[in-house]
Amino acid sequence: MNNVMDTRLVEIYSDAVRDDRIQLVADILRSGGLAVIPTETVYGLAANAYDSDAVAAIFAAKGRPQDNPLIVHIADMDMLGDIVSEVPDSARRLAEAYWPGPLTMIMRRGDKIPASVSAGLDTVAVRMPSNPIARQIIRHCGCPLAAPSANLSGSPSPTTAEYAIADMMGRVDCIVMSDDCEIGVESTVVLLADGQARLLRPGGITLEQLEAVIGPVAVDSAVLSSQLTGRVSSPGMKYKHYAPKTKVIMVDGDCEQYAGYVCRSAQPAAAVCFEEDVPLLGQLPHVAYGRQGDDRSQAHGIFTALRRADQLGAEVIYAHAPSRSGVGLAVYNRLLRAAAFEVVTL
Ligand code: TXA
Ligand code: MG
Repeated sequence: MNNVMDTRLVEIYSDAVRDDRIQLVADILRSGGLAVIPTETVYGLAANAYDSDAVAAIFAAKGRPQDNPLIVHIADMDMLGDIVSEVPDSARRLAEAYWPGPLTMIMRRGDKIPASVSAGLDTVAVRMPSNPIARQIIRHCGCPLAAPSANLSGSPSPTTAEYAIADMMGRVDCIVMSDDCEIGVESTVVLLADGQARLLRPGGITLEQLEAVIGPVAVDSAVLSSQLTGRVSSPGMKYKHYAPKTKVIMVDGDCEQYAGYVCRSAQPAAAVCFEEDVPLLGQLPHVAYGRQGDDRSQAHGIFTALRRADQLGAEVIYAHAPSRSGVGLAVYNRLLRAAAFEVVTL
């Protein structure tokens, strides 16, 4: 697709929310346009979820494979009834605990949602973001918004307005320039249709948090493997994804092992590492993405670090593997895909 559209940049920061600007963005969306909007996880590329032409335009703007379904965003519980045909009890309880917030629940799709939103599946993914600007835009639209992350398909999700602009300028009607995303990785995706509870994508709400409310949750094999065999339950998890242009390899080991390994690299290398690794890396180009024992800081920094590491002129990026507990599971899952499943264990 050529960069041919006239893209309007609209500044709406959380400390200076302007009603007229919210209205402007809502008007664009209501009339079938595409708008990049901030959420607490990552920036989203939004369109009216009831408008199948607008939904088709999302796939075109992102270069997204047609078999990868979208998440529908709502502002309040009243909107849910029109989107799903049935709300399981587990979904009700999780909504009470974690909505608004970084949790996406998959339920049976209602008739008003075009099949293209769900890539033809009979389920639909729904989330109520906690970002107040996102919710105000949805409320002013009066309709739910279908929105994938606002990156070009395959690239790291944008967690700053600057990166959303880098990917979407000329491809959408407007981009809301707002604060950096608080969480930094996408929402948790959990399948709740047909009496199951299955984690398809780890994210801002942890597996432990889900289980505290609804009991045992199965972890889909796609979360930690390349899923080259078997049925795909979350199409978005089967692609190489979240990747900078430079080749990425994930390296699992303690700080000394990691630093020793990357400093011996035969190719020009860069490190995407913990702050604690930095003193051990000598002159090696690096970007720290968080503190070693702090999964929230890692989630917040990972996508920006991958984009910045692409500018370091290296032939290979070695990413230090995080622990898989808490939000670390989401960070590990994203790095695994950025690395196309290439992991070195020391
Ligand atoms: O935090 C987020 O979720 C962000 C912000 C913008 O809300 N959105 C986001 O959307 O990450 P996207 O399109 O990049 O990822 C949606 C994921 C994909 O892995 C997709 O395959 C999965 O959700 N998904 C959506 N609908 C599904 C369905 N009906 N069944 C299984 N997986 C589904
Ligand atoms: Mg995405």
